[in-house]
Amino acid sequence: MEEKNRKKQVQYHSGASKISNFGQWSTILFYIFMTIFTTANAFDYMDALSKSLLYFESQRSGRLPHNQRVTWRDHSGLTDGLEQGVDLVGGYYDAGDHVKFGLPMAFTVTMLSWGAIEFRREIVAAGEMEHAMEAIKWGTDYFIKAHTSPNVLWAEVGDGDTDHYCWQRPEDMTTSRQAYKIDENNPGSDLAGETAAAMAAASLVFRTTNPHYSHLLLHHAQQLFEFGDMYRGKYDGSVGVVKSYYASVSGYMDELLWAAVWLYKATDNEEYLEYVLNKAHIFGGTGWAITEFSWDVKYAGLQLMASKLLVEEKQQQHTQILEQYRSKAEYYICSCLNKNNGSNVERTPAGLLYVRQWNNMQYVSTAAFLLTLYSDFLKSTNQNLTCHEGTIGHEEIFSFAKSQVDYILGSNPLNMSYLVGYGSNYPRRVHHRGASIVSYRENKGFIGCTQGYDNWYGREEANPNVLVGALVGGPNSDDDFMDQRDNYVQTEACTYNTAPLVGLFAKFLDSEGKKLLEENQNSHLVASY
Ligand SMILES: *[C@@H]1O[C@H](CO)[C@@H](O)[C@H](O)[C@H]1NC(C)=O
Ligand SMILES: *[C@@H]1O[C@H](CO)[C@@H](O)[C@H](O)[C@H]1NC(C)=O
Ligand SMILES: *[C@@H]1O[C@H](CO)[C@@H](O)[C@H](O)[C@H]1NC(C)=O
Repeated sequence: MEEKNRKKQVQYHSGASKISNFGQWSTILFYIFMTIFTTANAFDYMDALSKSLLYFESQRSGRLPHNQRVTWRDHSGLTDGLEQGVDLVGGYYDAGDHVKFGLPMAFTVTMLSWGAIEFRREIVAAGEMEHAMEAIKWGTDYFIKAHTSPNVLWAEVGDGDTDHYCWQRPEDMTTSRQAYKIDENNPGSDLAGETAAAMAAASLVFRTTNPHYSHLLLHHAQQLFEFGDMYRGKYDGSVGVVKSYYASVSGYMDELLWAAVWLYKATDNEEYLEYVLNKAHIFGGTGWAITEFSWDVKYAGLQLMASKLLVEEKQQQHTQILEQYRSKAEYYICSCLNKNNGSNVERTPAGLLYVRQWNNMQYVSTAAFLLTLYSDFLKSTNQNLTCHEGTIGHEEIFSFAKSQVDYILGSNPLNMSYLVGYGSNYPRRVHHRGASIVSYRENKGFIGCTQGYDNWYGREEANPNVLVGALVGGPNSDDDFMDQRDNYVQTEACTYNTAPLVGLFAKFLDSEGKKLLEENQNSHLVASY
């Protein structure tokens, strides 16, 4: 116990040196108290937060920087785009493979940025803002490269079929690195829209610390939105290779509205608001009641952002449409809380939200994110949520969101942390090429396409490299989980699973700190401060 606390003290102090730059000493006290009073069964959100950000370093493609902390990885994908005469080095590998899929990568960056905007104070106080910004910038630097002219955006590097045929480390890759683009003749409004949303959101993250970069991102975001809106079409119609991997099932209208609401938030330009209002009905923004929020379907996120505009004085003439958005946002929130008339998100026996078998955790982390934001919104505006099956206060919504994140960290029948590397019981056979093969740094001997399958994929042993901070697909509908490398439905992680957790870990760290401070306010320790 002492050892554990001492280790945490060190973490908080190393965080504190960064916080001092931001002049937030008062907040530090919360974390010091928290360290002192942490009980055995409380989750270590600080540890989870730091680890979640490390995961994005494991997924880096391109030339790794000197401050790279995940040291089992090395440079890879250094000729991406070369065949097409464009520099596409960088960005993120999507999951356990090495394809750079534009749509889920952009959604990942949007969610990382949204977390960094909403929970900025909490992330700064935890000393992790620099790492969060690095994670975002690794994505946005790549989007800047991929957006080679106003109406051209490179959509994907590599393809699922040839990539999945091999089991290799990224450093050894011999698979096709063909790049695919969208342009005026091959439109992709969903991809352009999501990338615009990601860059607009990121521009807000960098606004004060790196105004030049922020401005550049906004410029790209505006161009991409115009491109996506002017040349309408689904990107999977233009980039056929993506169809069996990330087909845009919900179409592009959600992404165009989503991009517009982000651009409005980033610019305050009324034109974007008009777009969100005028197209609310025909683009399904106020029509689609939906129970999932994902890399494909953005409606719930859009509806929640539109609802929050209602409290702004200047939106009074738009109340009617914004209320329609709000009613759909609440449909989503109520469905997660099991309070709709019939149409609710299913749950496992132990209470985990359950949308579908393959990579269910992605829906859990996005739901926890939206629920937490909505709880904050209700709290700050002194409102309750009215669902068909009853009225709910912000505390209940918050604690449900927290229960989902705590399930992820080990509060579940298997006592398993689905966040890799957190605690002592976590998946050891994550479906991940790089993590499952000896580190290239340790053994530079080339491992060929099928050699990886022969010598590494089928091993019983744990992965030689721990994919720290990755949220895997998670358990089935009975809370069961098979830790097997070929069970990719459950043991594969994706960048967009972990992205919403970053802000949430910081938020829960902060709220636990405050709670403990309140509980111990009569303690002599507090008095001595
Ligand atoms: C609730 O759902 C039931 C079954 O579909 C339906 O009969 C009833 O009218 C619904 N109630 C309301 C208030 O919508
Ligand atoms: C919200 O619900 C709580 C508990 O039922 C109640 O005490 C409170 O007055 C309600 N607040 C509003 C704004 O309706
Ligand atoms: C999980 O932990 C609880 C409480 O410590 C214990 O009772 C239970 O047996 C554990 N379950 C498993 C599957 O290890």
